[in-house]
Amino acid sequence: METNRLSATLAKALNNQMTNEAHNAQIYLAYASWASDNGYDGIANFLFRHANEERNHMMKFLEYILKRGGKVVVTAIPAPGPDPVSVNDCFEKVFKSEVENTASIYAIVEMSMAEKDWATWNFIQWFVKEQTEEETLAMDLLNKIKVAGGANAKDDSLYALDRDLGSTPDDATLAQDVTVEKP
Ligand code: FEO
Repeated sequence: METNRLSATLAKALNNQMTNEAHNAQIYLAYASWASDNGYDGIANFLFRHANEERNHMMKFLEYILKRGGKVVVTAIPAPGPDPVSVNDCFEKVFKSEVENTASIYAIVEMSMAEKDWATWNFIQWFVKEQTEEETLAMDLLNKIKVAGGANAKDDSLYALDRDLGSTPDDATLAQDVTVEKP
């Protein structure tokens, strides 16, 4: 008896997204290593922690495909690309990769709607919220580096930024979670 509850199109898209998440983890690992190499241990710590989050995202896709009776296809992970040339460049690259990731999550939302696959639609909503959070976090990073001087940030500002990021929480507060008491 056929127990696969995923269409071929959605199974392919979900498998691709699983690889995208693994690719994102590689990007964060590469940037974290670059930061550590350049003496920014706080930024490195933040990025290493985020690499783990991306691996968790990858696992969520893998588990979902399995639970819906689909076939998981583990493939090679694309290389993360060149190292950043500065902290500013690093944060800009992080933001760009999160925006690209959001676009591929939205594409799965659209596909699941088109197929009326409400289980997948429901599953992917977690990622819609997560991407809002990830983009907010990346925007916050860009704002912080802007305050520190952007591409021209001086060593003492970068030192303070690096120290702060070592203890920055992994999650950003979303507009929908804000209350009058907790702005
Ligand atoms: Fe899993 Fe940062 O997207």
